Amino acid sequence: HRYRIAVIPGDGIGREVVPEGLRCLRAVAEIHGFELETVEFGFACAGYWVRHGEMLPPDWREVLGGFDAIFFGAVGWPEAVPDHVSLWGSLLKFRREFDQYVNLRPVRLLRGVRGPLRDHEPGDIDFLVVRENTEGEYSSIGGQIFEGTDRETVVQETVMTRTGVDRVLRYAFELAGSRPRKHLTWATKSNGISITMPYWDERAAAMAERYPDVVADKDHIDILAAKFVLRPQQYDVVVASNLFGDILSDLGPACAGTIGIAPSANINPDRTWPSLFEPVHGSAPDIAGRGIANPVGQIWSGAMMLDHLGEPAAAARIVAAIENVLDERPEVLTPDLGGSGTTAGLGTAIAAEIGSQ
Ligand code: NAI
Ligand code: MG
Repeated sequence: HRYRIAVIPGDGIGREVVPEGLRCLRAVAEIHGFELETVEFGFACAGYWVRHGEMLPPDWREVLGGFDAIFFGAVGWPEAVPDHVSLWGSLLKFRREFDQYVNLRPVRLLRGVRGPLRDHEPGDIDFLVVRENTEGEYSSIGGQIFEGTDRETVVQETVMTRTGVDRVLRYAFELAGSRPRKHLTWATKSNGISITMPYWDERAAAMAERYPDVVADKDHIDILAAKFVLRPQQYDVVVASNLFGDILSDLGPACAGTIGIAPSANINPDRTWPSLFEPVHGSAPDIAGRGIANPVGQIWSGAMMLDHLGEPAAAARIVAAIENVLDERPEVLTPDLGGSGTTAGLGTAIAAEIGSQ
């Protein structure tokens, strides 16, 4: 099989970690006998904005729409472009206009990585956060009146549609049903937010009835955040609205070590449009250009991409290679993992491990 991948390195360390992601993808493609056709694009970065005054060319939908997937680094260079311009001008357009309504972020404590929390062993933390990625609290409905007076008032609405809520819940229940523990927790706050969150609960409870083999429960977001830290063992699949999911999917990886290893998938499950795979982290201007960024989040995102494309064995091989190298090769670890290695050194070691398994 042959897959066509659009590659967008973006800014800062995005440009340093994407080549390592590609190195590992090529290593695994050779072993599993599929071909990757990659086309690299130089938009969605600060340099493009400086030249064109836009983050993307006007025909970006046609340019990217025909690819099987998008492999993305990170965007943002605040010295040259304001952050809200670079993000809303590129990544958020991809998510919304390609209807990538699931943001899937695995949280796993890998062998060889020390989490910030004492007592947790590899295996204790192994769950998936499913974040609603297109509606909810992130709406642009609202406004401001009486500006500059002491009656100044701002309002912003949360939008939940039956279609939008049901489709992300269905995805999460299907996912839970496919895992050995078959356990799903939905995040809520229906004790305080009295209209949208009870609706979310109602739709989740209705969906649960259609999946009798999945053990479903709910947690209010406040105690859920506390339990991520205190008792992460109890979670398997956690599904949440846009805002709650955003917070949980940063908290989770923080409990499992460094943000440098966390991957994510922005998925259009209907496959009308390409899905986008990117590390959780940003462009890290503070360490950019020094060759010390951790490439694992990018490499693991490549594994998620292969899973989505229908190559689960190749994906599993990449994740196993990451874990072996982190556990057995302390000399190649990057500074965020407590080592003194380089981006290319760690990427090369993982690619070699892929080839030698
Ligand atoms: P960041 O994730 O870029 O950096 C936060 C901290 O984590 C920094 O100290 C950085 O050095 C460290 N870090 C991040 N990734 C690392 C890696 N792979 N290896 C080692 N250390 C790593 O977040 P920050 O500083 O809030 O944002 C910087 C820029 O990135 C901004 O322009 C922001 O808008 C953008 N950004 C883009 C995202 C995206 O493209 N999806 C996501 C988050 C931020
Ligand atoms: Mg976030």
